[in-house]
Amino acid sequence: MKTDILTSYGDFAHDISEVIISEQQIQTRVKEIGAQISTDYHGKCPVLVGVLKGVLFYMADLLRVITIPSEVDFLAVSSYSNEARNKGVVRLVKDLEIPIQNRHVLFVEDVIDTGLTLNYLLRSLREREPASLEVCVLFNKPRRRLIDIPLKYKGFDLPDRFVVGYGLDHQERYRNLPFIGLLKPEAFQNPNHLRECG
Ligand code: IMP
Ligand code: MG
Repeated sequence: MKTDILTSYGDFAHDISEVIISEQQIQTRVKEIGAQISTDYHGKCPVLVGVLKGVLFYMADLLRVITIPSEVDFLAVSSYSNEARNKGVVRLVKDLEIPIQNRHVLFVEDVIDTGLTLNYLLRSLREREPASLEVCVLFNKPRRRLIDIPLKYKGFDLPDRFVVGYGLDHQERYRNLPFIGLLKPEAFQNPNHLRECG
């Protein structure tokens, strides 16, 4: 997509050098994944679990195209030191409210990069003895994977580039762009949105 037609997205658009996955492509793929989940989990009332905040948009869109009864819950994490982060160790700052023992749990992720964080969280959920535990990721960065994690549902493979939009942020901005885009190099230093947001 040419960036000159991005202006309808507001000032953010000036910081985007290229759209690599369009809004239409995302919505089409999310519908396909939702239909597959509805078939696979028929009669199982899955609990969809996401980690705040990046998964917000994907979770909302996915839930709306799932046609079977399901429940949703969220975890929130914060990183410890750099060293702890490199091992994937995170601190749980918000736990699930739904008990997941004997439930079919679908871990919904916006993006998997190294896989360290996800691996740590999956281990912690497995200890609660769910009936099943599977991963449903929208954006996968296979080149950077350090830990092999089976992905039951996968939306798109992404190149090993830093991207924003559809929940993914740079310093808490750009999450609300409905597509996946690359940031211009200067946007890391002097983003347009800071003129307004301070
Ligand atoms: P990892 O899989 O443990 O390396 O961590 C994945 C996390 O890194 C995601 O949940 C995102 O918060 C963040 N992340 C990875 N790649 C990107 C990106 O391209 N843009 C924005 N955030 C990203
Ligand atoms: Mg995430």
